[in-house]
Amino acid sequence: MDRRTIISDRVDCYNMALIAIREGAIVSHDAVLCAGTHAIDDPGLALIVKPIEVGREAWIASGAFVGPGVSVAEGAVLGARAVAFGNLEPWGVYVGNPARKLRQRKPFELPKTELDGH
Ligand SMILES: CC(C)(COP(=O)(O)OP(=O)(O)OC[C@H]1O[C@@H](n2cnc3c(N)ncnc32)[C@H](O)[C@@H]1OP(=O)(O)O)[C@@H](O)C(=O)NCCC(=O)NCCS
Repeated sequence: MDRRTIISDRVDCYNMALIAIREGAIVSHDAVLCAGTHAIDDPGLALIVKPIEVGREAWIASGAFVGPGVSVAEGAVLGARAVAFGNLEPWGVYVGNPARKLRQRKPFELPKTELDGH
């Protein structure tokens, strides 16, 4: 987790592989970040783990599901209850299951603070 990040109540951060939450990103309540799955054609159901990245200033809204290997680019929004198994583009807004792009979000830059550089 980088600085200015928020993980809300009841978020399931199932980090069998690395889950990186970049600066300013928010993960709202009841969201699931799931970094693993199983090989369903293998009788032994072999475990497959893949890292997740939630980019700078991105927002994973309430109850959303982020699957293994997903990269949520800077500023992207995954709407409430949406399910993402593919990568989200920078500043894109995604909703639904499977998540589909709704629109583009207006990018922003936060002002520099006294913490910058430390
Ligand atoms: C993703 C989100 C930010 C989009 O906001 P927005 O761009 O202002 O979107 P709008 O409200 O204008 O809705 C646009 C369309 O998308 C649909 N839509 C919006 N959010 C949706 C969602 N999460 N799932 C499915 N459809 C959604 C709307 O029904 C609307 O459809 P229509 O054009 O057929 O009427 C917002 O809807 C959302 O999911 N917010 C998260 C709420 C939340 O988690 N709150 C807790 C905060 S801690």
